Amino acid sequence: MNASTPAPLTQDELKTLVGQAALQYVVPGEIVGVGTGSTVNKFIDALGTIKDRIRGAVSSSVASTERLRALGIEVFDSNEVDELSVYIDGADEIDGRGYMVKGGGAALTREKIVAAQSRRFICIADVSKRVEVLGAFPLPVEVIPMAARRVMRQFEKLGGMAQVRERDGLPLVTDNGQHIVDVTGLKIRDPLAFESEISQWPGVVTVGVFAHQKADVCLLGTPTGVETLKFD
Ligand code: 5RP
Repeated sequence: MNASTPAPLTQDELKTLVGQAALQYVVPGEIVGVGTGSTVNKFIDALGTIKDRIRGAVSSSVASTERLRALGIEVFDSNEVDELSVYIDGADEIDGRGYMVKGGGAALTREKIVAAQSRRFICIADVSKRVEVLGAFPLPVEVIPMAARRVMRQFEKLGGMAQVRERDGLPLVTDNGQHIVDVTGLKIRDPLAFESEISQWPGVVTVGVFAHQKADVCLLGTPTGVETLKFD
């Protein structure tokens, strides 16, 4: 690299770029669906700059709610709102069809609920999240604690390795009072069928495959700028 070559953007800068780019999808005067995570935090910060032009937000986690409120953005309960025009959230993985793995921040259940009540899902992600086949990132599954062992054994029968996510040496407890099982070693080639199947297992609250609630658009942060990927 010589003196005239700009340094490549860091992952954090790419997250800032896509967080700011997502503002173009926010509909003035409306309530925005807001996801969770470090990329979404950049979006929330950008949203703060136009807070007088929106009615407020429906949030997918306690963490996002606190960040929104700290910026003076009103947060509505999802039951107070029938339909949202747009939901903006990050992803742990996204494939070429807009199918995603989500839940690295343990907020997958509320994320899926808010995504389901939104007409469009805009995914914001840096290029490291773009994959050909879902499954390299440990798949988060929110479970009712008494079902954890059985759910893990079921994943092992599918060839995966499963463990209960811990924080400070104890099982992590989600915003919904449940646990997270993380599954490695899977290749999820049919995300729609996989999501349908796992969602029916007793004790599974939410599986972190977002195929039925896939992205409509992905704003992907790349070294050359923000690429807009549109999915049918
Ligand atoms: C939280 C999520 C996040 O969207 C996902 O983990 C991506 O997070 P980040 O933007 O921090 O990489 O699903 O449950």
